[in-house]
Amino acid sequence: MDYYIVHGGKKLSGEVQISGSKNAALPLIAASLLISGEVILENVPDLMDIRTIKDLVESLGAMVEYDNKKKIMSIATPKITNIEAPYDLVKTMRASTYVMGPLLARVGEARVSMPGGCAIGQRPIDIHLSGFESLGAQMSLEHGVVHAQVQGKKLQGSTFRFRIVSVGATANVMMAAVLAKGTTRLENCAMEPEIVNLAGFLNAAGAKIQGAGTKDIVIEGVKQLHSLRYKVIPDRIETGTFLLAGAITRGKVLVNGCDPVTVDALLMELHRIGYHLDVKKNSIEVTPGKQLHGVDIKTKVFPGFPTDLQSPMMSLMCTLPGLSVMIEDIFENRYTHIGELLRMGADIIVENGVAIVRGGQQLTGAQIMMTDLRAGAALVLAALAADGESEIRRIYHTDRGYEELEAKLQALGGKVERRTGGKG
Ligand code: EPZ
Repeated sequence: MDYYIVHGGKKLSGEVQISGSKNAALPLIAASLLISGEVILENVPDLMDIRTIKDLVESLGAMVEYDNKKKIMSIATPKITNIEAPYDLVKTMRASTYVMGPLLARVGEARVSMPGGCAIGQRPIDIHLSGFESLGAQMSLEHGVVHAQVQGKKLQGSTFRFRIVSVGATANVMMAAVLAKGTTRLENCAMEPEIVNLAGFLNAAGAKIQGAGTKDIVIEGVKQLHSLRYKVIPDRIETGTFLLAGAITRGKVLVNGCDPVTVDALLMELHRIGYHLDVKKNSIEVTPGKQLHGVDIKTKVFPGFPTDLQSPMMSLMCTLPGLSVMIEDIFENRYTHIGELLRMGADIIVENGVAIVRGGQQLTGAQIMMTDLRAGAALVLAALAADGESEIRRIYHTDRGYEELEAKLQALGGKVERRTGGKG
């Protein structure tokens, strides 16, 4: 299995180009199941998770071609040939549940394995299922598989309030409702940019969705969707990760091809810490100010500070003079990077979900292990700032969600090398 050797202590400098968003591309690929004609998606990143959802939609009847050089994926699904997302795929990638809404809308039936727990918490799908029920689907759980079925094959528009804000449930129920009879009103929706991108895609295919990007979304059902060409938005979490990579090494990094509005909460925190930010329409440059200090942050739903940047931000906190506080408020178990940071000399204690970081310690290179995608990014950042060599195992986690991570870091002067072999 591949691993990284990172030699820390070098200030990153230069420019980096941001890829298409993984979390925006995944629902678009699933939503293509709603359309019998050709869907052409631009700016699709070449990532493990993208290949997993490609395999999944192909197993359901889609014909997919992916040009990983041009980042263009074309998908056509004249007919749904299978209605089941098997456990093998769902367990490797929770976003496999995204096929449920499109399948229910198109053929009135879906079978999807329950995802079960994952590294960052229980992550149930009860809200997705209640949303489908409100549209008239009947649910049963058989041997770990959720079987959803619509009497008369057609979902019926309704009013549904999400119990808590959920990105996945908002996307899934929205995809289900576009072909339903009548009007659907969704309340307490996620407002993340990935939801706006999905609504834009569906509307460009002929759907009638209003309000995406606000708490309330109204969907007027239509009979069918048509072919389209559509572009995936830049990855806001990759954007944030590279800004933090520049920040943690006290370098000067220009992040190109991003959408600054989508990382506003991070920019505010970097500014509070003492970094200079030069923000243009599609780029952000970060440089350190004269005096940096600790900060207190709580993760929130968009437009708040994203949970996906909590762990990379904590790596930065370890290097800031003074105390910093982090509260993870979205997932119950998203602190698995802390044990590894402690091995690198960090001083962090966690009490009742609050992480208190005593910063300013010089991190030192160590043998460390990724536990999930964003925890993995946090370790790569810490290793870049550390004194000496780090060996980072289980890099299949970052391969799921960061396109050409080591090549991009190397271009900024980071000493990150992928090696093959060893225990994984
Ligand atoms: C999406 O996950 C992202 N994944 C996550 O990114 C991201 O961390 C998360 O949104 C929050 O921003 C994709 O877009 C593929 P939620 P999702 O439903 O949709 C609870 C990454 O690293 N909940 O908004 O699964 C849930 O347990 C990944 O790229 C229920 O209780 O997140 C969590 O506490 C990791 N029941 C909260 O809601 C449900 O039915 C928010 O989760 C659904 C969710």
